[in-house]
Amino acid sequence: MKSSSNIIANRKSEHIDTVLTKNVQAVKSGLFQFKLPYSTLPEVNYNDVDSGIDFLGKKLSFPFLISSMTGGPEETGFINKNLASAAEEMKVGLGLGSMRVVLKHPQTSKSFDVRQYCPSIPLFANIGLVQLNYGVGVDEINYLIKLFKADGIFLHVNPIQEVIQPEGDTNFAGLLDKLASIIDKIDGHVILKEVGTGFDQQTAQQLKNIGVKWIDVSGMGGTSWTLVEGHRRDDDLGELFRNEGYTTVESLKALVKVEGLNLIAGGGLRSGLDIAKVLMLGAEVATAGTPLLKPALESVDQCIHVINQLKKELQISMFIAGVKTIHELKSKSLIFIN
Ligand SMILES: Cc1cc2nc3c(=O)[nH]c(=O)nc-3n(C[C@H](O)[C@H](O)[C@H](O)COP(=O)(O)O)c2cc1C
Repeated sequence: MKSSSNIIANRKSEHIDTVLTKNVQAVKSGLFQFKLPYSTLPEVNYNDVDSGIDFLGKKLSFPFLISSMTGGPEETGFINKNLASAAEEMKVGLGLGSMRVVLKHPQTSKSFDVRQYCPSIPLFANIGLVQLNYGVGVDEINYLIKLFKADGIFLHVNPIQEVIQPEGDTNFAGLLDKLASIIDKIDGHVILKEVGTGFDQQTAQQLKNIGVKWIDVSGMGGTSWTLVEGHRRDDDLGELFRNEGYTTVESLKALVKVEGLNLIAGGGLRSGLDIAKVLMLGAEVATAGTPLLKPALESVDQCIHVINQLKKELQISMFIAGVKTIHELKSKSLIFIN
């Protein structure tokens, strides 16, 4: 019989394989419905456009964070190392993949151990919030943050993925109270994130009420974990539920109404123009996962190339909208086109 750690590690490899080989985009992010407020006379020197921001006390060259993806199987150490080196070179943030496997199988920790390659950037640990119902508590969370010298942790919330996943963890009862009882004891920044199905406003408000300051909406429009897990089953559950959830745009528009909450936007962002749009819709930082996966399997240079392109596209977006800074960009409104 396989040990649970092997099951987690094998699942991670299957996930990567499915994302790389199958079409797992269920719907569009909704960003095509908007265009920039194009300025015919921007009165800006393109060379003066500055996309830099401060994020949680650290500087980013543009508001971007590589979304949590991997770790566990030995070969994923190479992916994380490439992502970390590229993130350091480009001065963007990095979220590592789910670390539950480390708690079950400590020798897998090497695949997440990348702080030496990215000493100056915001680096985040990751674990499913649902694991609070499966033996994980504040000690384990703080252990992971400390072990990987992270600035904090992404706690992912993914009910649709877990329930479609053949071997998913589906006891989501009482998680709000459990999080409320530990949130002040977590030694680092806490960011709640979805994995590609989006957040509803009520959940976001409840999380804000218990002290959550940051949410990454990770909405529909990119990688669909409903479809990824559906591919691992022998029935049609993935197909049946493929349209359920909130697009990145729907989720952002709902969550900006939650006063005092800081938003990160991910899910289907595929260009610097998409990044400009989510910033204008209220996000402080943008994330992307899948666009970096294949490059990370190849080299640091490939990752740098993709991140550099996103940065350039964002800076062009800023220029044609007639702004020099991210602050100015965020003060402008998108044009709704359909
Ligand atoms: C191969 C792969 C593995 C992922 N693993 C995790 C994970 O371990 N923890 C997590 O919070 N999100 C995970 N995600 C979800 C991403 O962080 C992100 O929220 C989602 O893919 C949507 O962004 P995208 O459309 O840019 O890929 C994973 C995504 C990919 C592509």
